[in-house]
Amino acid sequence: MKIAVGSDHAGFEYKKTVLSWLERNGYEINDMGPYNEESVDYPDYARKVAIAVAEGQCDSGVLLCGTGIGVSIAANKIKGIRAALACSPEFASLARQHNNANIICLPARFTDASIIEQTLHNWFMTDFEGGRHEKRVNKIEPCC
Ligand code: RB5
Repeated sequence: MKIAVGSDHAGFEYKKTVLSWLERNGYEINDMGPYNEESVDYPDYARKVAIAVAEGQCDSGVLLCGTGIGVSIAANKIKGIRAALACSPEFASLARQHNNANIICLPARFTDASIIEQTLHNWFMTDFEGGRHEKRVNKIEPCC
């Protein structure tokens, strides 16, 4: 599985935690930046990761910003993307089970390394439940 990863400056430090966890767990990684702590604009990186997932170059994505909110709003502008803000490991499981989310967004200023690792574990170990959730997910369409 190939995973696209991106952040802004607020998420840069914990992006390293994400990259290290993915590497240790055998995932192929496309680190889409940034590559230093200089201030950047989160929509630029959210868009890169979202396009890589939407176009099938990567199987799923991990994004980080201060709250996780900015990157999730930006990523969800790309057709086919279901980016979910995960403030806890439980959010990650539910985002997969109920929403079939394909990008997870992490709140770098409101988490720690251990929570990030548990959240990634749940995210990658959990499948979409389908069934009643499939009909609902299929209703999520850009409309205007
Ligand atoms: C950057 O200061 C901050 O606004 C950004 O990381 C993010 O939290 C936006 O949603």
